[in-house]
Amino acid sequence: MAEELVKIEGSKGEIYSSLIPQIKALVGDEKDLVANQANIAAALKHAFGFLWVGFYNVREDMMILGPFQGPIACTRIRKGKGVCGTVWETKKHIVVDNVDEFPGHIACSTLSKSEIVIPLIQECQVIAVLDIDSDQLTAFDENDVLYLNEICEWFVTTL
Ligand code: SME
Repeated sequence: MAEELVKIEGSKGEIYSSLIPQIKALVGDEKDLVANQANIAAALKHAFGFLWVGFYNVREDMMILGPFQGPIACTRIRKGKGVCGTVWETKKHIVVDNVDEFPGHIACSTLSKSEIVIPLIQECQVIAVLDIDSDQLTAFDENDVLYLNEICEWFVTTL
């Protein structure tokens, strides 16, 4: 395991291209969900300086807060509620340019302005979501969609 992440400056694509192999090395043979989610959240927060990066894990009829980096957050989200619960229901990522314009958005931090949520899908079921908040409007673009989906799809294969 690497001692420290190499942080590069550059375009989002360049940062993700440098970060993804490092995340894969960081996870390595480790199978523990909490440990790996914790390190993935930390790596993304460190690389991009997002406001909040974390996971919500599906547990029966709720999603429950998992490892994260950033301000404190709500602990439980129901299916269909907020951005995370909508992604759980629809099984598709959502990019929210302005959280104030997303009906039912669950505000955990008043600093959050935009958000992206990516599902982790195993055997056609959403088992968790990766949620990232920014303190800037319209912070997420097609690069985030592409590379975060890549990270989540790869991560599920390690479980
Ligand atoms: N905004 C999310 C809730 C989680 S926090 O952003 C950490 C939502 O609407 O589902």
